[in-house]
Parts: sequence; structure tokens; C-alpha cells
Amino acid sequence: MKQESWSRRNFLRTVGAASAVSFTWNTANLERVEAASQSVAGRSPEDIARDEFYWREVQLGFKLDRTLINLNNGFTCPTPRVVLESMFRYMEQINMLPVHYQHMVAGNIQTIRRRMANEFGCDPEELALTRGASEALQIVQNGIDLEPGDEVVTTEQDYPRMLTTWDQRMRREGIKITRLQFPVPATQDHLYKLFEQAITPKTKVFHFCHTTNLTAQLFPVQRISRLARSKGIVTIVDGAHALGHFPFKLRDLECDAYGVSLHKWLLAPIGNGCLYVRQEMIPRFWPLQAAPEQQDYDIRKFESIGTHPWGIRAALGEALAFHQAIGAERKAARMRYLTLRWANALKSNPRVRILSKLDEPAETWGVAAVNIEGIDVRDLARFMMNKYRIIVVPLVGGVPPNQVFDYQALRVSPNVYTTTEEIDTFVEAMQDALENGVPTQGGAGGGGAAMPDPVLPI
Ligand SMILES: Cc1ncc(COP(=O)(O)O)c(C=O)c1O
Repeated sequence: MKQESWSRRNFLRTVGAASAVSFTWNTANLERVEAASQSVAGRSPEDIARDEFYWREVQLGFKLDRTLINLNNGFTCPTPRVVLESMFRYMEQINMLPVHYQHMVAGNIQTIRRRMANEFGCDPEELALTRGASEALQIVQNGIDLEPGDEVVTTEQDYPRMLTTWDQRMRREGIKITRLQFPVPATQDHLYKLFEQAITPKTKVFHFCHTTNLTAQLFPVQRISRLARSKGIVTIVDGAHALGHFPFKLRDLECDAYGVSLHKWLLAPIGNGCLYVRQEMIPRFWPLQAAPEQQDYDIRKFESIGTHPWGIRAALGEALAFHQAIGAERKAARMRYLTLRWANALKSNPRVRILSKLDEPAETWGVAAVNIEGIDVRDLARFMMNKYRIIVVPLVGGVPPNQVFDYQALRVSPNVYTTTEEIDTFVEAMQDALENGVPTQGGAGGGGAAMPDPVLPI
């Protein structure tokens, strides 16, 4: 993959006229990651994935609480120091004279749109910047015209908020929602056939995840999108966990719309997301907040949300620079290495069940799910926190309108800053649970990830 190197000059170009303001900032950790990448150029991503000296430079790029082991990066990830500092800097700058600098920074956002489109493989005119995946996906979910009786096909393991969005349209407009169930891990063929068999003359939309927020089940997005296109069905893909996590190009997916949380795997400040809409589909979707008719074909109509904190969006430029300094392949290989490190250490125990696909070719990177026969995962998660200060999220199936699935698991999601020692501590905690059991308390109800629990900060 083409690596775009970042430089202070590029950054000044990004900031443009606004950079005339005097301020200081520290790019040291970004430069160290770039230098580390240059020093390993020529070696394979799989080889570098095991090189702790390289990853030490990446780890130093973050200001973290290392008294806790964060294996819940599927929630929202910490942003690197250089990104956080740049966000404060943009905010401070805008705050000096909002009417002046806000417009300047807003204008410069075009640079970010261009760089993001270049990195992730689409036309800049197909990419809208949003405040998260919920916003991105709801724009298209609520923005497509549907008649009473029209059908949307989705799955029981799609994200709860997105399911709720369809449910609301069902209650309000009388559309029909079909939720497919699938076992985990599922094969790509199985998932394709489920969608194929669900098509009726009334089917108008397919909505599914690129990878789920539960077991990180990967979907064959291109195959399902081609099938949908051949039947006149619109595809909306939830890429909250995919973009910035493992390498692919948006245009290769061939879907109609794709929503992303950039505060997850791209490590952007909280409040960043994006929406890709295939160019000819832009006029098919109404924006969430009204836009003038002249903007019907303009991707920017999805961004008209009034006054909002531009500093958060501007710092996306540095998040992208940090991502590029590591490189998409190196990052994905490291995530997979960390997952395989704990999974391989545990999988031979007959009571351990891994619910994510770990064999080749790679279908799992930094999110995977595991359970121990005979132990309630809510008890296991509490034990992890209380005894080992490890943060993991218990997954428990619920009833509609929540996600519905028939397994329990811990979702384990490290990140580029995770150390092998932290992964090994998780393995030790699991072995302790296997040998000695865990205190039991159980838990009420279910409904996916991140169930509120007074003991677990999730
Ligand atoms: C699969 C999936 N879709 C959508 C979302 C919503 O993302 P955001 O919090 O950026 O709105 C999440 C968040 O965890 C998610 O996991």
C-alpha cells in the first residue's frame, strides 16, 4: 500500500491561513513513529508485528492510565498525544475569534476530506465527515424513501442503535424489518446465502456490518452488494469497526453507503465519523438536517448540522497522519498478532471456546470473543476487573429491540498501544479462572455489548 509520509509542511498546508497564529505543539511522538517505520522498511508486516522495539515507539505516542489494562478498545479508543494536543490547539485558536477562525478551519476541512478519500479509496466527493457512525448510518437509514410494506433485511447482531433506527421507521411508516440470525463464527458463503434467501419482491434495503461489534464476524460486503445491485436493492454497510482497523478500499466494497466511527480504530478524537455514499446514490438519500435543493447531488448536504466543534474535526488530520505513520498493513498485522497471542495460549483447553474466526486467510484482527464453559461472562468480566484490573466487555444476548444471539462471550479488543505483557496478564487471568473459578453474581438480562454494570467501567 502506498504510504503517504507526513511532514510539518503538510500540516501547515492543512491548517492554511490559520497557521499564521502563533502556537507551539509537540510532534515528537509522531516523528518517532515515522522514524521507527522508516527503520523497518522492507520487513514484512507479520515480522514487524513481533518487534517489541518498534511497538514501543507507538506505545509512547499515548498518554494512558497503565494501572488498568484496557482490552475494550471496541468501545472508543484513546487518541494519540499528538492528536489530542492538536485538537486543543484548534479549539484554542477558534475560541480566540470564532467568527473568523471557525470559517477558516471549516474551509480547510476540504484538505482532510481529500486526504481521507485518498487513504481509504474513494472520491472526495463521496465522503461526508460526521460525528460518529450512529450519525453517518442514521443519515442514510432515515434518508431513504420507503413505502409502507417495503422490506429492510438486516441481522440480529447488527448494532442496537441501528436496529432501533429501523424499528422506529417500522412503527412510524409501516415498513417491514427482517432480522437474520447466524451462528458464530459463520462462513462467508453462509452469510451470503442468508441474504440471498431473504430477498422478496418487496426487499428494498440490505443493512449489515462489515465486522460486527460482538465477535467481529466479517461479512462478504462486495458479494452481497453485487447481489443487491443486481436486484435493485440498496446496501447500507456498518463499518464502525472496520475502517482504520484493517486495510481495504471503500470503492472495492461496491456498497451504496458505508458509515464509520473514526474515534474507534482510526484513533481520532471522540466525535469523529464519516459516511461514504457512492456518487450516483447521493441524490437518493435525504440529509438528516434539511439542505437546499441545489445541494441534492452534493455530499456536503450530509454535513449541514449548524454550529459544532470544528476543532474536533480538524484534528482528524493528525489522526490520519498517525495512522499513516504506522501504516495500515503493519497495524492490522499487529492487531492480529495480539489476538492470536492470547487465543493460541488458551484454545487447547477444552472449556475454552473462541467465537471469532482465527484461521487463514485473516478474517479477525483486533476484536475477538471467547468464553469459558461453566462460567457466566458477567462474573468473568467482574473477576478480570476486580482481581487483575483488566477491562473487557461481557456479551450477552438479549431480546428485541436489542441484539439477539444465543451465546455468551468476553469481547477482547487490544490496540496498537497494548503491550504483550498486558496480553499475557489476560491469559494468566483466564487460566486462573479456569483453574480456580470466579466469584458468582451473574447478571440480569442481556442485549449485546457494554451492558451497564456498577462494577465494570464499560
Ligand atoms: C457496529 C457499530 N455500529 C455503530 C456504532 C455507533 O458508533 P458511534 O458511537 O460512533 O456513533 C458502534 C459503536 O460501538 C458499533 O460498534
